Amino acid sequence: MTVAAVRTTRIIHVRQDSGQTVMKSLTPENAGLSLMGQRTSAPPISWLMQLALSRQDIISLAVGFTDNASLPVRETRDLIEDLLSSNATAPDILQYGTGTGNPDLRSLVADRTMRADKHACNVMDAGGVHATPAQDIYAADATIITNGSQQLLYMINECLCDPGDIVLVEDPTYFVFLSLGQSHGIEFRGVQLDIHGASHRHLEEVLENAKMNGTLPRVKYLYTPTYFQNPTGITTPFSRKIRLLETLRNYEKDAGHPLYLVEDAAYRELRFSGEDTPSSLASSLARDRVIYTGTFSKPFATGIRVGFGILPHHLHETIARIKGNHDFGTSNLLQHILRRALVTGKYDAHLQTLQERYSFKSQLMLEALQNYFPNSVSYRIPKGGLYFWVEIPNAGTGLNSDVFASALKQNVLYLPGDFCFADDPTRTKPDNHMRISFGGATDYSITNGIKRIGNALRECRIN
Ligand SMILES: Cc1ncc(COP(=O)(O)O)c(C=O)c1O
Repeated sequence: MTVAAVRTTRIIHVRQDSGQTVMKSLTPENAGLSLMGQRTSAPPISWLMQLALSRQDIISLAVGFTDNASLPVRETRDLIEDLLSSNATAPDILQYGTGTGNPDLRSLVADRTMRADKHACNVMDAGGVHATPAQDIYAADATIITNGSQQLLYMINECLCDPGDIVLVEDPTYFVFLSLGQSHGIEFRGVQLDIHGASHRHLEEVLENAKMNGTLPRVKYLYTPTYFQNPTGITTPFSRKIRLLETLRNYEKDAGHPLYLVEDAAYRELRFSGEDTPSSLASSLARDRVIYTGTFSKPFATGIRVGFGILPHHLHETIARIKGNHDFGTSNLLQHILRRALVTGKYDAHLQTLQERYSFKSQLMLEALQNYFPNSVSYRIPKGGLYFWVEIPNAGTGLNSDVFASALKQNVLYLPGDFCFADDPTRTKPDNHMRISFGGATDYSITNGIKRIGNALRECRIN
């Protein structure tokens, strides 16, 4: 029997030895997919997104989109016009760029991150730790520009992990990161979160267990979104970052290789109250151990897919080669737009508008939660980012739960919290949370969406 041709995404035509052609369903196994192709399942949120798009009457507070109304349309139009106005320089902008990114933009990024860390180091941190960031860690040649920070997260796995390797993640964490790791065949172990981020005590327990059961050599890094964490909104103070770095360092000898800290600062600039806190790059333990990922996408325009990383030099080279294989470099035009937005002050002006907008929207959501949610649920008030993380006592919130069915009946969507917990065989996955985003929702949807979820909860006798 030979496969004659593939005709649709789900059906193949198979010619039998008799010459007759029959139709057969395509499965991951008979479609000729690689093991990675087979492991790469649809992201859990795609079903929710499709549902929201297909039904006008649904309010979706599930996805982490950014505010549509305040996207910098006029600013971007002006920037492009400006960039392409000179026949002498425009062709360079429309040409391939360099693999690691525009050198001026890399300098700007490295310098901006160092200035932010220096400033934050001057402000009293929880725990009162002081540090002096080392200038050479924030070097332009340690910096790489990527297609959003998402591409860098992907390449970090490609650079450090083989299938079967272990990555430590906060419990809960950024759920798309879990999908990405699943695709790479990575196993996860959860590290408990407290109000100051990943618990260094639990990290030690997890590493000790790995040492005891012989899996420590497979542990490669700890992934931690430290600013207004997606999904909980928790920010990790500098003192805790140092503890995490120390704990990782203590297990390196037994692991037989460095244990890196991947600090995802995607929401750092979306802070609307409180002071900034230094990144782990500012620690004296950062050298050769911290991979810092950031983005311009959420604080400017998500459609301008420009993210960045500051990496140990020995990893920078490998990631740069991987990046070359991916795409020869991030879009030169988009990088020029960002560079110009930064040097003209348009980026910072827009950031301020956004911070004010999210401050307003989070307040609106808070008022709706206070007005319409039962008293028994709990949540933390975020100081930045795009999310509220709500805990429901004694009731599941997953796709098959009564609460989810009731919310669907009320025409509202939230992100079930269990999406954000890794498949960690060492503990039961909690299923009584919801992530609710005020990022992309209109003011009307925020108030009415929360009202509808409140009705759904009461319908399930949660008071
Ligand atoms: C925690 C976190 N990190 C990284 C990203 C990737 O964002 P981008 O690729 O737009 O930089 C996201 C997007 O939602 C996120 O929530």
